[in-house]
Amino acid sequence: MSQSLVTMSYIVATILFILSLSGLSNQETARRGNYFGILGMAIAIIATVMSGAVTSYAILGAALAVGGSVGLYAAKKVEMTQMPELVAIMHSLVGLAAMLVGYANFMDTSSHFTGAEKTIHEVEIYLGILIGAVTFSGSVIAFGKLSEKISGKPVLLPARHWLNLGLLILVIFIGKWFLSAAETGGGFFPLLLMTTLALAFGVHMVMAIGGADMPVVVSMLNSYSGWAASATGFMLNNDLLIVTGALVGSSGAILSYIMCRAMNRHFLSVIAGGFGTASGADAAVVEGEVQAISAEETAQLLLSSKNIMIIPGYGMAVAQAQHTVNEITKFLRDKGKKVGFGIHPVAGRMPGHMNVLLAEAKVPYDIVYEMDEINEDWDDVDVSIVIGANDIVNPSALDDPNSPIAGMPVLECWKGDTTIVMKRSMASGYAGVGNPLFVKENTRMLFGDANKMLQEVLKAVKS
Ligand code: TAP
Repeated sequence: MSQSLVTMSYIVATILFILSLSGLSNQETARRGNYFGILGMAIAIIATVMSGAVTSYAILGAALAVGGSVGLYAAKKVEMTQMPELVAIMHSLVGLAAMLVGYANFMDTSSHFTGAEKTIHEVEIYLGILIGAVTFSGSVIAFGKLSEKISGKPVLLPARHWLNLGLLILVIFIGKWFLSAAETGGGFFPLLLMTTLALAFGVHMVMAIGGADMPVVVSMLNSYSGWAASATGFMLNNDLLIVTGALVGSSGAILSYIMCRAMNRHFLSVIAGGFGTASGADAAVVEGEVQAISAEETAQLLLSSKNIMIIPGYGMAVAQAQHTVNEITKFLRDKGKKVGFGIHPVAGRMPGHMNVLLAEAKVPYDIVYEMDEINEDWDDVDVSIVIGANDIVNPSALDDPNSPIAGMPVLECWKGDTTIVMKRSMASGYAGVGNPLFVKENTRMLFGDANKMLQEVLKAVKS
């Protein structure tokens, strides 16, 4: 394949990747976005194979067969709830690849750069291995924490911030040492030393982060893996890899920022670690009278309402109640009721968690609303049902400036006529904060496992 045709294919693949990203930003276009991504990747692989850069088709074929089969098997086998850990382990592979390409480039004697070009090439190698090593070891630890192979509790070493700063300064000095050693054909030892420190830094950084903050860390590692791929692109002189890596790097960084903003957390404080340790058991107590409601009374209330809003949270995912929710929704809509879903950007434990569950249960997209869309319409809502959600409907985020979640935007369901909250106890949620919603005059608590209680409600509405 001629060089201009390869360049042309790379440009087409880049456009398809951009279209893919923009498609993935909306549920209705997500499927199309995926197809664009698949097509872009197919073009990228074919163009690279045909570009003449391949020295052994046998090795390439074997690598594609092994990698493709492992990917296919993992994607088929993985449960939706295991998605974050699959993503984490995939990122570790990108990091590992960047490291290996860096070392291969360093040992490659066929390139004859001189002067500034040589220095730039060496800086690329150094940075590629550095980012790759941090991404690799950080992602392995993230995988271990998410799959509960290692404890989710943050491991906080004394003076850990100083330790991190010390490591950063050391890495800069070793970089200088590497560049001057590389002048005379050496540099392997400083490279190895930096790799060891970078691996240790990745482990230390992720070990310090509490289990519940892991989704932010996964999206941050996603961003790192993009920059690692970009660095690999520079080393291999491959424009497509540079652009694709930059797309992944920047979209991962934007996603991390959006998640932090929706949780009212500073990105740096997530990375600094130590949050997400509060357990539901030592919940802050809220004062006031709790009014319980039964499944039958809930059914009556639903049947006498016209406008119903459902707010799903982490508990719906735990109870796997999405299918029962869909059945109730279908039944009520058939009876002429208006039913909508209000989705908070950080409901659950991963970006889009609720959207994925509702799509899996085949809830129509057009009745699923984002928080900003519905927060102005609560006056028209007769009943809202909060299913296993807690922090995302906590009024203290708006009323109490001393609350740990003060300033976090929430779904203001208490402004509707009646709110029914479904959960098993009065325990707090992820943030470990008491919720005054539970004792509001127009709130009724339906205690029990969300799926079990919804099945009782479904039976009652049908009879
Ligand atoms: P949470 O505030 O964690 O509350 C979930 C509630 O579900 C708990 O209070 C629990 O109460 C209830 N629950 C658990 N299992 C249940 C079951 N089987 N049946 C019924 N209820 C059950 O969840 P949320 O409101 O979705 O808020 C999400 C939180 O996670 C936010 O604080 C957010 O900042 C944080 N977070 C989110 C993300 C992303 S990206 N989504 C990432 C990191 C952190 P009981 O124990 O009383 O049943």
